[in-house]
Amino acid sequence: MTQDELKQKVAQAAIEYVVPDTIIGVGTGSTANFFIDELAKIKGQIEGAVASSEATAERLKSHGIPVLDLNSVAEMSVYIDGADEADAGLNLIKGGGGALTREKIVLAVADKFVCIADDSKKVDVLGKFPLPVEVIPMSRSYVAREIVKRFGGEPVLRDGFTTDNGNVILDIHGLEITDPKAMETELNSIVGVVTNGLFANRPADIFLCGTANGVETLT
Ligand code: 5RP
Repeated sequence: MTQDELKQKVAQAAIEYVVPDTIIGVGTGSTANFFIDELAKIKGQIEGAVASSEATAERLKSHGIPVLDLNSVAEMSVYIDGADEADAGLNLIKGGGGALTREKIVLAVADKFVCIADDSKKVDVLGKFPLPVEVIPMSRSYVAREIVKRFGGEPVLRDGFTTDNGNVILDIHGLEITDPKAMETELNSIVGVVTNGLFANRPADIFLCGTANGVETLT
């Protein structure tokens, strides 16, 4: 099976977790896009969706799925999104598509986090995938120096990229993240950091992992 076929399988499997007559949160990226296309087939069963990026909002709307403003939503049954890396504790690196901040905000409102990915995303230790950190543009050099001082690694400015929030991204290369919760918290304490791509203090609840033998459900 190709990687896209595995992504499609997990997207189909995720439909099981869509709770009828509720609002759901929808992530960003190629796997999330497969999920949106599946969601379109049952769009009459949900009240609407909150999007984690402008790109996701556009795709939801193109399918006629109502897109709601998070400020008007008090309850969300589930948040469904992809990931760049996942460890055995379902701690994640996200933000390869640059939507990490809105993803984390939408997730915060959801009761359950279902992560969908192909098995290439499973790792023993997080960090091979460069860790994205969204920063306020004027702080990027300061933040990069602080990162090197505190964690090592090599922060690289994502070239020509501006987030939906008007900020920039530093991708930290060369990390071996043995304590993702502590690192997530400490990175967020650096002045100028908006958020970082570690989803460890709120990891996934369920990981639908696409393998050659079918979809594995990890909890
Ligand atoms: C976007 C993300 C994505 O979930 C992550 O990059 C995975 O993307 P894909 O499904 O295309 O592999 O965090 O900010």
